[in-house]
Amino acid sequence: MSNSWFDTFNFKRNEGFSQIEVYPLETENYKIIKGSLDKVKLPSNMKISIIFTSSPYYRLRKYGDDPDEFGWEATPQKFAERLIDSLMIPYANLEETGNLFLNLGETYDNGKCLAVIEHVVLEAVKRGMHYVDRIIWVKESNKPISNQNHRFLPGYEVVLHFAKSKNYYFNRFKIKKYVTDFKISRGCKDHGWEGVNYYVPNFYKQLRTIMSENELRDIVSVQTNTARIKHVDGEQYHPATFSQMLPAIFLSTYCPKPTDDYKPLVFDPFLGGASCGRTALMMGYRFCGVELYEQNVETSKRVLAESLKEFEPRALVQLESQKEYVQVA
Ligand SMILES: C[S@@+](CC[C@H](N)C(=O)[O-])C[C@H]1O[C@@H](n2cnc3c(N)ncnc32)[C@H](O)[C@@H]1O
Repeated sequence: MSNSWFDTFNFKRNEGFSQIEVYPLETENYKIIKGSLDKVKLPSNMKISIIFTSSPYYRLRKYGDDPDEFGWEATPQKFAERLIDSLMIPYANLEETGNLFLNLGETYDNGKCLAVIEHVVLEAVKRGMHYVDRIIWVKESNKPISNQNHRFLPGYEVVLHFAKSKNYYFNRFKIKKYVTDFKISRGCKDHGWEGVNYYVPNFYKQLRTIMSENELRDIVSVQTNTARIKHVDGEQYHPATFSQMLPAIFLSTYCPKPTDDYKPLVFDPFLGGASCGRTALMMGYRFCGVELYEQNVETSKRVLAESLKEFEPRALVQLESQKEYVQVA
């Protein structure tokens, strides 16, 4: 792939395209940028098709002790300003038809809702982002939760949907529910269950199930513990990974399908353990992510390298042949 943004990173680093460390090119399919999102500079020829991310929530969890970590700003307003300011960096590189999804939870302090989500939405609108929708992610969990709050138990988070323009890409499809002839052959032998060894057991089957069960309304239901990355010995546990099924729903609906000639670029500005990256690579996309902490970068490098091996084009073709298009008005 010549004249790509990968080349730009490789050859023009000294000309100020990125002020931060960029890992050596291991593959044309993915790249990790280590550093703080607000200090990242992206080359203008890096065209992003979709941004899917889960940022740190406001005052919820410490990921390390870097003062640049998001979530510890003095007020929700300042958090919203810094978050949107930083998201404007990849947003500027979104294709005209591109979409941005931001998963966020609310913060409560002493019985008071801090309206973090509202602050973030208003800030994004103020900065000129095209606000499309607020999707409710119902977090199904079969674990009992003790309720010491004077309010209902938290049962959802939001996925905020912004786009570059009103012409954003949307291809709504639903996979037929009752299909039995679905086969997968490739997978990582290290993990898995009962004779079927896949690192993430049956990712494509899970994808099919979730695409047939979710009605693609603005409420999506994904189990918290389904299809999450697993750590190997020696890796530091990441406390806040989401299910790969969450990005899968949005990538398959709001990002053009990869072809032999064109692999859309998926971007996650808060990479974590690379759950979104793994999903992207397993669906045949290219991927780029930003992460502040070395330990998460290390996990992500391993996860992404494995995901490439797990990508199974034939399984995707099968999925593709099972979909039902729904006409968009
Ligand atoms: C909610 S987690 C993302 C988890 C990810 N979706 C996954 O499933 O693995 C947020 C991530 O943002 C990272 N982070 C915090 N501050 C950052 C900053 N200033 N720049 C880049 N990443 C940052 C944290 O280290 C953490 O890994």
